[in-house]
Amino acid sequence: MWGDQLVAWQNVGVKAAILVESLTGNTWKAAEKTADLLAQERWSITGLSKVKQPDLTSIQEADLVLIGTWVHGAFVFGQAPWAINNIANLPAMRGKKAAAFCTFALHPGKALDRLTMAVGDTGAYVVGGLAISRSKLDEHSEIFAERLVGSLTTA
Ligand SMILES: Cc1cc2nc3c(=O)[nH]c(=O)nc-3n(C[C@H](O)[C@H](O)[C@H](O)COP(=O)(O)O)c2cc1C
Repeated sequence: MWGDQLVAWQNVGVKAAILVESLTGNTWKAAEKTADLLAQERWSITGLSKVKQPDLTSIQEADLVLIGTWVHGAFVFGQAPWAINNIANLPAMRGKKAAAFCTFALHPGKALDRLTMAVGDTGAYVVGGLAISRSKLDEHSEIFAERLVGSLTTA
């Protein structure tokens, strides 16, 4: 009987909100793929919305907020996450856990570090992040989801 109860508790997954900034759809695809994989791990996705029009209710309901954007720069220098100011100004993030991801074409440079700092500036506790190559969206989304599940179940 206690065993059954334990299984029931373990099945109550993490609640995650996802916020995305995407110009040509790669980051949105990575977000959807990651959301599917997390749902398979019994996480609930409270919402998938745009960084510039965030679904605030989905953030409030979430334990963890995933924030994704794309790398903008001159490909070999000056890489930065797009919409970084919108990210730093997100409300309702204090007390939440967060993770960042950015999609890129050739080289992400320091974009992930900059994104991670912006996410940290919201007051959220950043548990991790990943730069996702646009030519390996599926593979890298799987790695991202696996790491999230690993870090939140061992934390
Ligand atoms: C104006 C512009 C600048 C870019 N600069 C870089 C760059 O410096 N380094 C890089 O690896 N990718 C760069 N990219 C590629 C994008 O980061 C990549 O295609 C990303 O997956 C786009 O995401 P999205 O489809 O969600 O908009 C650039 C794309 C654009 C449109």
